[in-house]
Amino acid sequence: MIAAGVLGLAACSGAQSVLEPAGQGAERIAALFWWMAAGALLIWAFVVSLTIYAIRVQPEAHRQNVGAWLIIGGGAIFPTLVLAGLLSYGLALMPELLRPAPENSLQIAVSGEQWWWRIRYRMPSDAGTVELANEIRLPVGEPVSFLLESPDVIHSFWIPSLGGKIDMIPGRTNRLTLEPTRTGVFRGVCAEYCGTSHALMNFDVVVLEKADFTAWLNRQQTIAQPPTQPLAIRGQELFITNGCGACHAVRGTPADGVIGPDLTHVGSRLSLGAGILPNDPEAFLTWMARTEEVKPGVHMPHFGMLPPEDLRDLAAYLDALE
Ligand code: CUA
Repeated sequence: MIAAGVLGLAACSGAQSVLEPAGQGAERIAALFWWMAAGALLIWAFVVSLTIYAIRVQPEAHRQNVGAWLIIGGGAIFPTLVLAGLLSYGLALMPELLRPAPENSLQIAVSGEQWWWRIRYRMPSDAGTVELANEIRLPVGEPVSFLLESPDVIHSFWIPSLGGKIDMIPGRTNRLTLEPTRTGVFRGVCAEYCGTSHALMNFDVVVLEKADFTAWLNRQQTIAQPPTQPLAIRGQELFITNGCGACHAVRGTPADGVIGPDLTHVGSRLSLGAGILPNDPEAFLTWMARTEEVKPGVHMPHFGMLPPEDLRDLAAYLDALE
């Protein structure tokens, strides 16, 4: 049993673990988990001892009032005390978990799409647009307010390492405050079945030191640099002539679509296709040529009919959008 427990817990570390918290909310949730586990262990140990007692010990018949007290004490009083203790502890954590972020905190609007995440940083009116997909970068040690919505179906936004999950419901905006406590790369997931590719909508969460975060945010506000490599230059022309800009935006070019992900800095992201492919030219090619195979049910049509050299050049262009 101990070996099984150790093996089980060995799977509880890493970029997507509630038991290795990297945020204030997650720390409270992990503490609650351990207290609940301890409470459950206490009740389990008590029941097991009673079982052993019943099997091993052959006492003469209990007096009736001893038996009655055993049932009242073990069956009602003991569990009520343990469960009441855990309930009050859990309820006491809630105000802290639901506390809104201060007025001037960073605000990030996240929209659950089929099946990817649209990320928009709320910027001052004089700053540029910061929109990206499937990747969120955060400064360490600062509360961040998330505004969560969905245009069509219900998703659930969850970064296990940073805090609790909350549903994204069409027609309303749910708010969640998260405060990362250490830097690192974590993984976010959709925690509510939302359709065919529900399991294929993940995102990367990168927690950075404040200065690195500011530099990253400034870079995200810039428009796309014109490509310099010959393949990428041809790729940009193909991107425009094939109508990719009807769905995708590349800020600084005629492509200004709003249906699919903003690709202005797509080459700088950690992964492609909502956390399912690495970010390299090969993966761009795979994605464009076989969207439906990579992500069943995806809205983007595949472009496998294009000549291989066109796909290669498109991939070179997208990869260069850093
Ligand atoms: Cu989105 Cu499940």
